[in-house]
Amino acid sequence: MKNIILFGKPGAGKGTQAALLRDAFQLVHISTGDLFRYNIGNNTSLGALAKSYMDQGDLVPDEVTIKMLEAEVDANPDAGGFIFDGFPRTSKQAEALDEFLHGKEMRIQATIALEVDEEVLIKRLLNRGKDSGRADDQDEEKIRNRFEEYNNKTAPLISYYIAQNKFHSITGVGTVTEISEQLIALLDSL
Ligand code: AP5
Ligand code: MG
Repeated sequence: MKNIILFGKPGAGKGTQAALLRDAFQLVHISTGDLFRYNIGNNTSLGALAKSYMDQGDLVPDEVTIKMLEAEVDANPDAGGFIFDGFPRTSKQAEALDEFLHGKEMRIQATIALEVDEEVLIKRLLNRGKDSGRADDQDEEKIRNRFEEYNNKTAPLISYYIAQNKFHSITGVGTVTEISEQLIALLDSL
């Protein structure tokens, strides 16, 4: 069983690459951002709560995010493995994930970061914002706030996973195929 975390700044290509890895390795792809957007689209109370944070580019509180993630893993008991995309994003989430997986005799095999400069990401996200309908893609200030959240709360997880000997990083610049080939080679080597 392979359980992988795809890590990287907003717009680094986590969702794009996760879909390809899901198909290549028959994994279940869980994106906490997609789950929140699904809840927003369905007007749930979780969606309303998440929206108030997401629209500003702020992280949603740990407690609700962790609960939602665990429910999604539990909803897929036959999975051959998981790709976690956009989770964990805080130390509390990382610790909760380790503890949760440990309770199921599962573990993370690797955390793989897609590295892309912020100026490249701003162009990507503003471009997607033209037709994505995502409020957090619409203006540079919100995008910069998403980077700030990443730099303050998520980047410290790099040392958390280095300490567990699970951290890998590859460039997220290049064609989608070039990047996925590198990711597949890395996963094959695990
Ligand atoms: P989330 O939905 O996770 O958004 P994000 O991390 O900000 O990043 P994106 O999904 O925008 O980017 P991505 O890395 O998936 O790249 P993608 O493949 O889409 O989170 C949104 C919000 O939800 C957060 O701000 C927070 O409020 C909340 N949230 C989610 N998880 C949370 C958590 N764990 N805790 C608390 N709050 C949480 O690609 C981006 C664009 O680039 C696309 O247009 C794509 O076509 C293009 N692209 C992809 N690859 C390439 C390439 N190689 N070259 C050129 N363009 C490319
Ligand atoms: Mg995404």
